[in-house]
Amino acid sequence: MQAEVIDGRRLAREVTDAVAAEVARLPRKPGLAVIIVGDDPASHLYVRNKVRTAERVGFHSETIRLPADTSEADVLGRINWLNSREDIDGILVQLPLPPQMNTLRVMATVDPGKDVDGLHALNAGRLTQGSQALIPCTPMGCLKIIKSVIPDLTGCHAVVIGASNIVGKPMAALLLEENATVTQTHIHTRDTQFICRGADILVSAVGKPGLVRGTWIKPRAVVIDVGTTRVEQADGTVLTKGDVEFDEAIKVAGAITPVPGGVGPMTIACLMENTLIAAKSRIG
Ligand code: GUN
Repeated sequence: MQAEVIDGRRLAREVTDAVAAEVARLPRKPGLAVIIVGDDPASHLYVRNKVRTAERVGFHSETIRLPADTSEADVLGRINWLNSREDIDGILVQLPLPPQMNTLRVMATVDPGKDVDGLHALNAGRLTQGSQALIPCTPMGCLKIIKSVIPDLTGCHAVVIGASNIVGKPMAALLLEENATVTQTHIHTRDTQFICRGADILVSAVGKPGLVRGTWIKPRAVVIDVGTTRVEQADGTVLTKGDVEFDEAIKVAGAITPVPGGVGPMTIACLMENTLIAAKSRIG
């Protein structure tokens, strides 16, 4: 039997419709500011999608586009200005940043209450302690997808491939909070395939197309593909590829997210949810 292909767009719609309904009842529009530095086309596309969704749910949104040679001091100054503004509830600095910038220092400058990406050390620390935090959008989106298939993760073996600050580490922390038994693999792990074969839930967040083969997957497992690598085809067109060899995996897994149309829309939906949470706590 083939795996269920999880419709991330449909789940994301449910989340954004609920956000829009709450926004309509607030005394003012939540405000989301996005800073993007440089001209990476994929990053610009992601930001356009975020801004379009923000406007659809009824937020005020602003995008600050800066050239690749912008200084870190300039970006920090703009963040401080956004921190001080009453009408801005959420601040997102699109990653990656150019090499002259220290990403952790930039993240540390965002007011933790406006850190809708959940990347400030305070929010990251709160997440690992299980206390109230703004949670990074991609792992939160993955968790919502997983729970749409397995409502109670207690005792499930979850394997997370990848240990980035933005996806892998917060993903593992969230799954642990859900009482899953979590294994994290990374670039130095000796036998990732063997570990994956024991996974009831397998999340891959690496950015290597075709890394996860059908033979790595436990029958009926839930497979979440966070990879989005743009691959140029022989005819010059560009396709977005996940980490999972989809045609193999669909024959083994119980449920699987497609790329595109899986995790991506849920990341944006969770950004909307975080901005609403931040706005509500600021409006009081
Ligand atoms: N670049 C790729 N994914 C993300 C994300 O979730 N947040 C930010 N800020 N940048 C990203």
